[in-house]
Amino acid sequence: MSRVIFHSGEDIPLELHKVRIVQKLSLVPIERRLEAVREAGNNTFLLKNRDIFLDMLTDSGVNAMSDKQLAAMMESDDSYAGSETFTKLETKIKEIFNMDYFLPVHQGRAAENILSQVFVNPGQVVPMNYHFTTSKAHIVLNGGRVEELVGDEGLKVTSNHPFKGNIDLDKLNALIAAEGRDKIAFVRIETGTNLIGGQPHSLQNLTDVSAICRKAGIMLVFDASLLADNLYFIKTREDACKDMTIREIARKLADLSDVMYFSARKLGCARGGGICTNSREAYLKMRELITLYEGFLTYGGMSVREIEAITVGLDETMDEDMVSQGPLFIAFMVNALVKQGVPVITPPGGLGCHIDAKRFLPHVPQSQYPAGALASALYLVSGVRGMERGSISEQRNPDGSEVYSDMELLRLAMPRRVFTLSQVKYAVDRIVWLYKNRDLIGGLKFVEEPQMLRFFFGKLGTVTDWQATLVAKFRADLGDSL
Ligand code: F0G
Repeated sequence: MSRVIFHSGEDIPLELHKVRIVQKLSLVPIERRLEAVREAGNNTFLLKNRDIFLDMLTDSGVNAMSDKQLAAMMESDDSYAGSETFTKLETKIKEIFNMDYFLPVHQGRAAENILSQVFVNPGQVVPMNYHFTTSKAHIVLNGGRVEELVGDEGLKVTSNHPFKGNIDLDKLNALIAAEGRDKIAFVRIETGTNLIGGQPHSLQNLTDVSAICRKAGIMLVFDASLLADNLYFIKTREDACKDMTIREIARKLADLSDVMYFSARKLGCARGGGICTNSREAYLKMRELITLYEGFLTYGGMSVREIEAITVGLDETMDEDMVSQGPLFIAFMVNALVKQGVPVITPPGGLGCHIDAKRFLPHVPQSQYPAGALASALYLVSGVRGMERGSISEQRNPDGSEVYSDMELLRLAMPRRVFTLSQVKYAVDRIVWLYKNRDLIGGLKFVEEPQMLRFFFGKLGTVTDWQATLVAKFRADLGDSL
């Protein structure tokens, strides 16, 4: 994807695929968007797709499939037990990751449920580079706690560190010494670390973490959901790996892990997920829970069509053109925003472009949820749906006090192969306009706040009526534009 040089000198990512199926989009007027965002309680999860122009909520389950994936779906072999389709996926997992055992699940968090039920005992700790919402929720639900050991650079918004997702090895050694092996359920590494901006870890870091775990006799669990992006960054940012193929890097990462799990909504551009391991003991411990929660061992809650799509999707992911598309589009967007002074996470990561709401809205205190306010404001002025990844995505302490997140981010995900460059340029244009008018944006407060996963269902109101002012300014500046 990156091999073509424009003689104009412009740095433009060039697609090495063509679009053969399209879906019509609509861009409703800002007045309708104001109604819609109010109906949704300023929670972008509660917006309806019909009111959305560019859906940058997530890259989960919305990546574009290839012609080969669709063709394979037609050939699927449906049976409750022993389907050929499942055997194909099992064989592909063995071929790519050299893992003997594969357990299917209906999506990534189902793998987390099973891993946590089987391996986390009350009072145990799970060290990790950084948590993901569902991974942490399952560990806590089983009486465990999470310790985040990402290096200090990982939490700096602006940086040029190539691997901000790396675990700090000194912190890991210190934790193992302090807790002792029996208190540690397993170590978890999340590739393409989601909540700190889709930031990668290096192959070297996983090699070091794996050596520490093996010496201490602790299981290493690798969350490979965002593997595609991380493979690209290892290939392009880690000197020692520049001559390795994507397939070789993937194999090395798998070799270093004891258990690997993934959401196929991300990895493989399909839906579903799975757990892979070479440990028969671990496999046997998890097997019964698969049949209890997911379905029989040859489908695990997935349709056989999705399983076919994963098999082809995983194969396609072992290709540099494929894994570069997301990161290059994201880098284009991040660099365009940096040029205009908009505060975003750097260096560009995978998954999406992450705007730093703390610096975008310094006048909105964390108690009024700046990332949520920015998500609401951006939808209002553009029809672009992003996701709050800040304090709203945290859960209150048992005493009811707020847990303020390390970062207040508005995530604008880039589903793979979905948007065109002019759509990305439109999003940049509206973000820049919003940045110039940022003083008009105010805070939010909860009006309906569920106890668990409040970011999915909660509703918020505005602290002042700042949205009406923003709409008036939009009309004054941009005339009758939608
Ligand atoms: N692990 C990581 C790193 C993830 O990003 C996700 C999902 C999961 C596990 C859970 O997988 O959704 O298939 O159950 N991330 C989605 C997102 C929800 O929008 O970032 P799932």
